[in-house]
Amino acid sequence: MEQYIIKGGQPLVGEVSISGYKNAALGIIAAAVMTDETVKIENVPDIGDIDILLQALVDIGAKVDRINRNTIKINASKISTVDVDFDYVRKIRASYYLLGALLGKYKSSKVALPGGCNIGSRPIDQHIKGFEALGAKVKIEHGMICAETENLAGAHIYFDCSSVGATINVMLAACLAEGQTILENSSKEPHVVDVANFLNSMGANIKGAGTDVIRIKGVPKLHGSEYSIIPDQIEAGTFMFAAAATKGNILIKNVIPKHLEAFTAKLLEIGAQVEEFDDAVRVKADKRLGNTHVKTLVYPGFLTDMQPQMTTLLAISKGTSIVTESIFENRFKYVDELTRMGASIKVEGNTAIIEGVEKLTGASVTAPDLRGGVALVMAGLMAEGYTIVENIEFIERGYERFEHKMQQLGALIAKVDSTDMKAIKKFKLKVS
Ligand code: EPZ
Repeated sequence: MEQYIIKGGQPLVGEVSISGYKNAALGIIAAAVMTDETVKIENVPDIGDIDILLQALVDIGAKVDRINRNTIKINASKISTVDVDFDYVRKIRASYYLLGALLGKYKSSKVALPGGCNIGSRPIDQHIKGFEALGAKVKIEHGMICAETENLAGAHIYFDCSSVGATINVMLAACLAEGQTILENSSKEPHVVDVANFLNSMGANIKGAGTDVIRIKGVPKLHGSEYSIIPDQIEAGTFMFAAAATKGNILIKNVIPKHLEAFTAKLLEIGAQVEEFDDAVRVKADKRLGNTHVKTLVYPGFLTDMQPQMTTLLAISKGTSIVTESIFENRFKYVDELTRMGASIKVEGNTAIIEGVEKLTGASVTAPDLRGGVALVMAGLMAEGYTIVENIEFIERGYERFEHKMQQLGALIAKVDSTDMKAIKKFKLKVS
């Protein structure tokens, strides 16, 4: 089993380039099956989740060509089935975007019901509400969601809660429905906008993405397109916080600063320095940072996917901080691991009360999920001594060439096999 070994205490210095947005790419790749023409997508992050979704497309008969590490071509003219196997959905929830895409194009789709995951129960009632409003019959049997209809007709849909997944999934199906669909209480996240822009580049007629009312005029068919995915705001935020956590100085390139505003505001509030450029931000810190209170919200609020990184940064700040997780019900699992590194954090329900400590000390920790895992790497970079992070496949599902990008910034981190004592010894010799 592979793991990261980290020697902490090294400030991160230098430049790093951000990859394409995982959560936009997943929706865009699913949308690519909605045309029989070829689609070329650039700035696709080279990560595990994307590989799994591309394999699911191949499995239902689409042709997928990887032009290079970050560019793919998809042609879905020969799709032979609308059934997406449980194996894919079990591995990544976002395979469920194929439900909306295949329902839109073939008026029928069958996708395994995604389970919960480590951060919460993850219901999909709002997705189903949207599909039924468009005229689909949706039933759940043998663990599969089956949706079908004679034809899809536009509808006025009011989501009961702001859901990125439901907004994207229903938007996919509505693109090829007859007439106008209005989605109210839609998610405004940048990746929702990116999927809408991609669909419009294929000939869809979507207006209002990025606001909480999206209007879609159904079109008879979609055509091929060439598209480049926006930068990953969570990867960018993660490197911003890692710079501050290690008292470093990093230029983070290929970003959209507007998407990072909530993270920038919090970093400035606790005493870090942030300088914005057209498509880059520089983050530096040269002293112990202060405390703050954060509540995770839907965009443009402080995003839940940055909550573990925020809590970890505050673990060594001066004073008491409070982080409230308002989106998912179980997203503090990484805190037990931080406690093993000397953090003083008390979790009560969906709130973490953080007493800042002078320092963390290295330990062996286990990543509970993607963002909790990357927060533990951050903790290892901040800590005195050596840290081993296990279950790193979570991290590699969402961060392209993660340890390479960190090494380029001077981080003392290596990926080793947990049984390879020689490699661990070699690393310790090299960094001591
Ligand atoms: C997306 O998940 C992201 N995943 C998550 O990122 C992210 O944390 C989340 O949005 C919130 O921003 C992808 O884009 C692949 P939601 P999603 O539907 O779409 C409730 C990461 O680390 N809800 O916006 O599943 C739900 O329980 C991942 O990259 C319903 O009640 O999130 C939650 O409390 C983790 N019914 C809230 O809405 C529904 O039908 C937000 O969920 C759907 C959601």
